[in-house]
Amino acid sequence: MEELTYSFESLATKKMTIRGPVNPLSTPIYLSSTFVLESAKHGAELSEQKEVSKGSSPYLYSRWGNPTNDVCQRLITSLEGGEGTIITASGMNAITTAVLSLVQRGDHMVVTRNVYGGAYEFFTDILPKLSGVEVTWVNQENIQEYIDAIKPNTKLFYGETIANPSMVTLDVERLAKEAQAKGIVSILDCTFSSVYNIQPIKLGIDIVIHSASKYYGGHSDLIAGTITARTPELLTKLNHFHRILGGTASPNTSHLLQRGIKTLYLRMKQHNQNALVIAKFLESHPKVENVYFLGLETHRQHELAKKQFGDKGYGGMISFDLKGGYEAGKNFVESLKLITLAVSLGGIESLIQHCASMTHTMVPKEDRLKSGITDGMLRFSVGCENVDDLIRDLENAFAAVN
Ligand SMILES: Cc1ncc(COP(=O)(O)O)c(C=O)c1O
Repeated sequence: MEELTYSFESLATKKMTIRGPVNPLSTPIYLSSTFVLESAKHGAELSEQKEVSKGSSPYLYSRWGNPTNDVCQRLITSLEGGEGTIITASGMNAITTAVLSLVQRGDHMVVTRNVYGGAYEFFTDILPKLSGVEVTWVNQENIQEYIDAIKPNTKLFYGETIANPSMVTLDVERLAKEAQAKGIVSILDCTFSSVYNIQPIKLGIDIVIHSASKYYGGHSDLIAGTITARTPELLTKLNHFHRILGGTASPNTSHLLQRGIKTLYLRMKQHNQNALVIAKFLESHPKVENVYFLGLETHRQHELAKKQFGDKGYGGMISFDLKGGYEAGKNFVESLKLITLAVSLGGIESLIQHCASMTHTMVPKEDRLKSGITDGMLRFSVGCENVDDLIRDLENAFAAVN
């Protein structure tokens, strides 16, 4: 029989569960911390991470592996590509686990200046104290800055496919190529682009991270992260650290995540489409100073973005500055009715927030401005509502701003 290869849409919705005498269509939630052992030999095989005898359960203890989590991990790997995926307790746990697995005292890493606030805090506060790892900050728009920053002890390149919240991208293929040529591990946080719009592992990136609390889950009802590794060696290292650091996701969360993934491509199509319409509307509005969205032809990285994400879309995240700065922004967000004032993003409902006073308070003003986050910047997670309703809500709020 011909071996079929499936498209993203079919992979995301395809039945993927646990076989057994009951054979459910959707994955059961295995709420068990531990698993019954058939014999002392079985227990020893599992503890020593050896292959178990045919027909025996491969599960020992849920921090080491859980059937519900495993199904969701396999599903994510089928979408991302690569060797395997680990679902973690949060996106931050995915970042910290991946980085701590790959660096040790005296190492050096190169990180985009446009990094997510929580990751910034980890790289500036916790990582140097724990391990003395040195970080060089670069502008990810210019891959040459990563190359120029390389030292003999450089172990990692770290970037974001679409940076939070400045919305700049990087040349994914070039970063992967340069990292591989120099034996440096490349990590990309792909939360904003989503796996539907780009799959960097297939372009040679070593490790892809997502805050699955966002587009992967898609319904603002869970906190989780994903780490996908391109090679078996990296996956083994990551699994070892993950088991010890202990950021295991709950099987309840994996169940919700798997359910969310079934409609990921439908949601992303709507997010991509709505955000492009709204970005154009904002760009033409007289009360808007700047709009940051890769899908706009006026964006300085539009050509690169078109090459990387163009067939799918540019995601649902838009940042913009209102004329009148923080005060205008405050009145604006408090006047919205359909769009909700809340941090987080990537759910079907539209959310808006003020970066400097909410998601990026931990980044000192000087560093914030260097990474393009102005005092008045608003970050808008465009949802799946009717786009005309969203525009009407925005128009009403603009009317309330002087
Ligand atoms: C780009 C990015 N990476 C990582 C995270 C952290 O994810 P979590 O909140 O799931 O820990 C976030 C959270 O907003 C994010 O926006």
